[in-house]
Amino acid sequence: GARVISGMQPSGESLHLGNYVGALVNWVKTQEQYESFFFIPDLHGITVPHDPQFLRERTRNTAAQFIAGGIDPDRSTLFVQSHVPEHAQLAWVLTCITGMGEAARMTQFKDKSAKQGTEAASVGLLSYPMLMAADILLYQPDGVPVGDDQKQHVELTRNLAQRFNHRFGETFRVPEPFIPEVGARIYDLQEPTVKMSKSASSPNGLININDTDKKIAKKIKAAVTDDGTEIRFDREAKPGVSNLLSIYSAVTGKSIQELVSEYQGKMYGHLKADLAEVVVATVGPVRDRTQELLADPGELDALLSKGAAKARHTAAGTLAEVYDKVGFLPAA
Ligand code: TYM
Repeated sequence: GARVISGMQPSGESLHLGNYVGALVNWVKTQEQYESFFFIPDLHGITVPHDPQFLRERTRNTAAQFIAGGIDPDRSTLFVQSHVPEHAQLAWVLTCITGMGEAARMTQFKDKSAKQGTEAASVGLLSYPMLMAADILLYQPDGVPVGDDQKQHVELTRNLAQRFNHRFGETFRVPEPFIPEVGARIYDLQEPTVKMSKSASSPNGLININDTDKKIAKKIKAAVTDDGTEIRFDREAKPGVSNLLSIYSAVTGKSIQELVSEYQGKMYGHLKADLAEVVVATVGPVRDRTQELLADPGELDALLSKGAAKARHTAAGTLAEVYDKVGFLPAA
């Protein structure tokens, strides 16, 4: 059957609204139609300086947020990347067919290394996209459900798959990025031209899905708009209002068109109050369910261990084929 795979980093205090709307909502839909693999890329989590205890906690926490957000661990394979050693093993092979220039051109690498300074930025940060390509290609998926900012990495993954197939013989399926029509790029509420991310310049720009109801409502009501009055979708002229409409549409399933006519003649305050209500109604239960799941870490860990065993079964098959194709002597 058709298959998808995707992952979300365990960094930041919690998944944020961009992760939720741009990816998790879409995962929950894809799991209905596809054989699905969802994982927590903790190996990616150490490409920038990190705190070990925090990483461990956040990894389990992210798994709980996936389940609370609608990932069904009986239907989808849910696992932690470091539990499946084939990811790091395939990453090495892919690193050896990637050009330095090609890796250095990745937007995320340029942004993150600029922040840290090229001397301080790790080689891990440079090879990050090859590890991501390995994450994907091991599972021979048809699609990779991600937000807009991961499109370039999926593009590189496709190039590497094609290059490997060309050099060593048909091995990998070349996957498509599955990017949602609405919500693929959610912007910072305080700076609506910058994508929402954990490194937001103001805490009010970012909604974490474990924020209290009160905090969520407050941040939405304080969102930057413009000094006009008209509620319409225009990314250039009205980035703030357009962002609110995107979030609204992604969370409720109503089209932007529908929302615009619904709010015709109303004030920004109305839109914000209603949006706060629908976001709280959606995200609040996910936060509460996450807490319930975290009360039994043993059960979560058992689920993840079962998931890793299932994932390894598929990953090991692909890796064995790759090792053979590149000419490694069998371990007998
Ligand atoms: P990460 O952890 O930054 O983000 C997880 C998912 O959330 C989406 N996303 C957004 N969508 C809309 N608006 C936003 N503001 C926003 N911010 C984040 C991302 O596009 C992503 O889908 N490299 C990946 C993790 C990864 C991965 C993989 C993904 C590692 N291996 C293999 C897919 C397949 C990352 O850092 O995503």
